[in-house]
Amino acid sequence: MKQEVLKTEGDVNLSEERLIWKKRNIIDEETQQLLASDERVFLYQAMSTPCLDVLGTCDGASIENIQNKRYLDFHGNNVHQVGFSNPYVVDKIKAQLDQLSFSTRRFTNKIAISFAEKLTSLLPGDLNRVLFAPGRTSAVSIALKLARIVTGKHKVVSYWDSFHGASLDAISAGGEAVFRQNMGPMMPGTICIPPPMQKGGFFEDEMKSAEYLEYMIEKEGGVGAFIAEKVRNTDFQIPTKKYWKRVREICDKHHVLLILDEIPIALGRTGKMFVLRISELNQIFFVWEKVLEVE
Ligand SMILES: Cc1ncc(COP(=O)(O)O)c(C=O)c1O
Repeated sequence: MKQEVLKTEGDVNLSEERLIWKKRNIIDEETQQLLASDERVFLYQAMSTPCLDVLGTCDGASIENIQNKRYLDFHGNNVHQVGFSNPYVVDKIKAQLDQLSFSTRRFTNKIAISFAEKLTSLLPGDLNRVLFAPGRTSAVSIALKLARIVTGKHKVVSYWDSFHGASLDAISAGGEAVFRQNMGPMMPGTICIPPPMQKGGFFEDEMKSAEYLEYMIEKEGGVGAFIAEKVRNTDFQIPTKKYWKRVREICDKHHVLLILDEIPIALGRTGKMFVLRISELNQIFFVWEKVLEVE
């Protein structure tokens, strides 16, 4: 049975504007053929396809198509803050591939230890251990599992419209309709609450969102984790420190682990190493791309 699909700008885009753009920009034979080959062999993926163009190279802030047309990339999937093909990074990766290209956690190695030491040196307070995850969504997944083990409670609270990855557990914990559509049932025990917006939100005041969090935790019972983006990456809502301190208090009081997902914003992207000075908070779960830190 064909299911209704929410169409978004990033999704299967068949708009007039797209066709005009394609007609104007994709004129050479090779690019047309490669785009057609891509369409034949890849599944269309929500929020990503159809492909716009065929890339040949990337460098600094730019990506370049196979006709040498350069685009300034304002997106970069939040993972290229030192620029594409940064020579320092490329040299280090090449040297590492020559020396030791793979090491499971059955073994350890010097470079992994020094990387972990560097990361823990950046973290404040007694946050002093890391875990490398295969990817960013996996880090969220691991955090959710750890919360179950540590608290013995399986329920997770998050915000409506938040994003924590596109796997089934991450869309269950996240609240974006476009990822959840036709995917149910979601993971049991996931509960969304209205986000703390200062303007135009469900609550007039962000502190009401914090109070609702507590109300929800008390009424539901069995809540082991609250997962949140400290700055919402999709629309840049920035809750105040006062709000986060209150959330910290609520989580401590009810033995709920606070999972702070800074995946797109940590490690210098906002000009600071981390978004909120987490030394001001205690007992924190902190998820970072490829790294999971557990208090
Ligand atoms: C807040 C947040 N959490 C988790 C993820 C998941 O990252 P990935 O899709 O690379 O696994 C993203 C990706 O943009 C994100 O913005």
